[in-house]
Amino acid sequence: MKIFEDYSLKEFNTFGLDVKSSHFVELLHKDDFQVFLSFAKPGHKPYLVIGGGSNVLFVQDFQGTIIKINIKGIEVIEQEENLVYVKAYGGEIWDDLVRFCVENGYGGIENLSSIPGNVGAAPIQNIGAYGVEFKDVFVELEAIALETGERKIFTQKECNFGYRTSIFKKELKNQYLIVSVTMRLSRIPVFNTSYGSIEKELADMAIMDPCLKAIREAVINIRNRKLPGPEVLGNAGSFFKNPLVSHAMYENLKERFPGIISFEQSDGSHKLAAGWMIEFCGWKGFRRGDVGVYDQQALVLVNYGHATGKEIMELAKEINESVFNMFGIALEMEVNAV
Ligand code: EPU
Repeated sequence: MKIFEDYSLKEFNTFGLDVKSSHFVELLHKDDFQVFLSFAKPGHKPYLVIGGGSNVLFVQDFQGTIIKINIKGIEVIEQEENLVYVKAYGGEIWDDLVRFCVENGYGGIENLSSIPGNVGAAPIQNIGAYGVEFKDVFVELEAIALETGERKIFTQKECNFGYRTSIFKKELKNQYLIVSVTMRLSRIPVFNTSYGSIEKELADMAIMDPCLKAIREAVINIRNRKLPGPEVLGNAGSFFKNPLVSHAMYENLKERFPGIISFEQSDGSHKLAAGWMIEFCGWKGFRRGDVGVYDQQALVLVNYGHATGKEIMELAKEINESVFNMFGIALEMEVNAV
């Protein structure tokens, strides 16, 4: 096993930030972590596990070891009636897994098409899009404790999933590496097309009777229009979360800002479209040096080339201040700053 020193992370974060890690190791097999632990010295700590690097913002060089998970594999482990249990390893590219499921007629994650990143990151932030979240199909995951190398299975309940969060972003932050996830999918899928833009896209595609492939295509079309491909423009998807507010707060805001966009939640609270609020404050398309706010989606911050993590954080702070001054709401970051 090779532990690299002073290693550039430019290729390993979708913001394309040119930072270095004092140590870097790649795991190709789940037993590799035990091997790494047998080599590791105190100076190799702390460890930071990365997958596709699509939700991380490096604000400085990383003093420690970046553990890049490259453990591959997708297996159908069980079939019963119309249900299919699929196990996928952490280093698989998320969208390859979605394509595999759609091509085989396994429904459940087609709305999550084209989300950048790896399978191992899906449970950490409970990825979601177009009315579906990863937790909806989740059965269990296998993880390894970074401190001890011990293996543990986490059930749905133990993961404590929430909107773009889980126990791995809170109490167990940076404590486990995720080896594999198991999902329950359906051969008789219930299509989730209620998210407005999907219905419209299907209509524009002249599809009356949706199938998994059509939904995947519709989602890819919408995403391609709104979200920049990281290979073209450095970014990490939505930079902030959509804030949740009480019904009373929403009513008050709606009176002052009649155009405000919100999604009512089952408990009566409202999820506000942060992209709309940021656009309302005039930031959409803003650029300073190589840092900017994407001109098609104000929730996405972009690196036009040689931006630094500090510059991106600085812009995020200014956006947050102006949203707070306008709406009285503090936005929370979705991206992990390191
Ligand atoms: N909007 C604006 N201006 C903007 C951006 C959005 O007015 O600049 C409006 C849109 O017109 C729409 C509403 O805000 O009416 C919501 O926008 P959109 O459908 O693009 O979704 P979003 O709320 O901005 C969330 C997720 C995305 C996910 C989409 C679709 C979060 C933080 N983001 O974005 O996830 O793809 O919904 O489901 O929840 C990600 O997490 O990285 C991500 C891309």
